[in-house]
Order: sequence, then structure tokens, then C-alpha cells
Amino acid sequence: MEEPTVRSYRIRGSRITAPQQLALDTHWASFGIEAGSEKLNLSEIFPDSSEIIMEIGFGMGEATALIAEQFPEKGFLAVDVHRPGVGKLFLLIHEKQLKNVRVIQGDAHLILHEMIEDQSLDGIHLFFPDPWPKKRHHKRRIVNSDFLALIAPKLKADGFIHIATDWVPYAEWIEEVFAASPLFAGGKVERPSWRPVTRFEGQGITKDHQVNDFRYVKR
Ligand SMILES: C[S@@+](CC[C@H](N)C(=O)[O-])C[C@H]1O[C@@H](n2cnc3c(N)ncnc32)[C@H](O)[C@@H]1O
Repeated sequence: MEEPTVRSYRIRGSRITAPQQLALDTHWASFGIEAGSEKLNLSEIFPDSSEIIMEIGFGMGEATALIAEQFPEKGFLAVDVHRPGVGKLFLLIHEKQLKNVRVIQGDAHLILHEMIEDQSLDGIHLFFPDPWPKKRHHKRRIVNSDFLALIAPKLKADGFIHIATDWVPYAEWIEEVFAASPLFAGGKVERPSWRPVTRFEGQGITKDHQVNDFRYVKR
């Protein structure tokens, strides 16, 4: 699979702080996984984990680290394209002495396609995906029918995806995309207590801005 031509992320500057760069240099061998075309052996990477969860688009990794800390028995494979965020997550993993997080820098589409075996994930976390509010950018929204077709085979039977968004039009979009798909069942859920409040939730609530959580299970 080639790098997607329609990207679901913004190309941002790779300005990185000195501590983030140092964390990348120091911890890559322990916490990082090189993006490539070989399938990962997830049960070797997380030998003691009861569940394996892939997080797509962890940003600066605040939620990732807090969730991994709450669930030491689960393994978390965290994916983002943004290199400074990888450095920041390495710092958090090191600070909290987490043993259950591994990080891949790259486009989740490519990583899912190339590196993840079918039926190997118990769940996927997708928190606050880029909303792409302009109509001409809707094609960039990561949640679409191709994405559902990509993730469904990677999930085990009864595997789930949990999505949170702070953009009401995107919440409506998510409901439409899943409603049109035979691959998943589910819908809106209460905000789960295990999902930490990140800076996205701290923002004011307006007509278009309120946080919604969704959980869909593979049929
Ligand atoms: C709006 S931010 C949210 C970050 C984080 N989940 C949070 O709640 O703070 C969306 C993140 O998704 C990442 N992203 C978007 N498309 C991606 C893709 N195809 N593969 C990996 N990461 C992606 C972006 O780089 C960005 O860091």
C-alpha cells in the first residue's frame, strides 16, 4: 500500500523540544517500533497483555499514558505521524515507568495495512480525530467507509473501536458512516470514566462544540 494521497492529518512543522529529541534518542530501542512492511507479532511484543489496543492519532500522548497507567494488564500500540508527539509520549512512558506501551510513527492506514495481522486487535482508540470542518476537506476525515473496511479484519471477533470527538458535525458524520456499514454495530455512549479529560474537553461547549463518545463492535 502506498502512502495515501488524501491525508487525514495536517503536515506540521517538526519543531521538537530538546527533551523530546533526547527522549527519542534515548528510548527508541525500548519504546519505539520502526514503521515497515513486516507484520508485527503482537503477542511477542505484549506477552502478558490480556488485550491489545491500538490508539490512532495519540497527539502528545496525554490520554495514552493515563489510560495505559490505569490498565497495566493491557498492551497499547500507539500510532501517530507527528514526531514531537512521539518524543513527548516517550517522556511520559519513562516518567510513569509504563511497561505496556509501544509507539510507531507513521500513517495509521499504512501501518494497519502492512504491519497488523488480521484478527489481532481487541480494540482501537480514536480520540479527537482531526475534524476537517470545511466541506472540501471532508474527504480527509479518517472515519469513512474505507477506514471501516481496513480496521474490521484487523479486529478480533467482538473487537471494538471507541471514538471521541469534540466537533458535533463530525459526531453526526461518524453516526452516518457507521449506520451505512454492515461491519459494525453500536453508537453513542456515555463518556467512559477511564477516558481522561484532555485539553480538547476543557474547551467551552457551544452548538458545534461538545464532546461525544461512540463505541462500535465488529459484527
Ligand atoms: C486533533 S489531534 C488529537 C490528538 C489526541 N488524540 C488528543 O486527544 O489529544 C489528531 C491527531 O491524529 C493524528 N493523525 C491524523 N491522521 C493520522 C493517521 N492517518 N495516522 C496517524 N496519526 C494520524 C494527527 O497527527 C494528530 O496528532
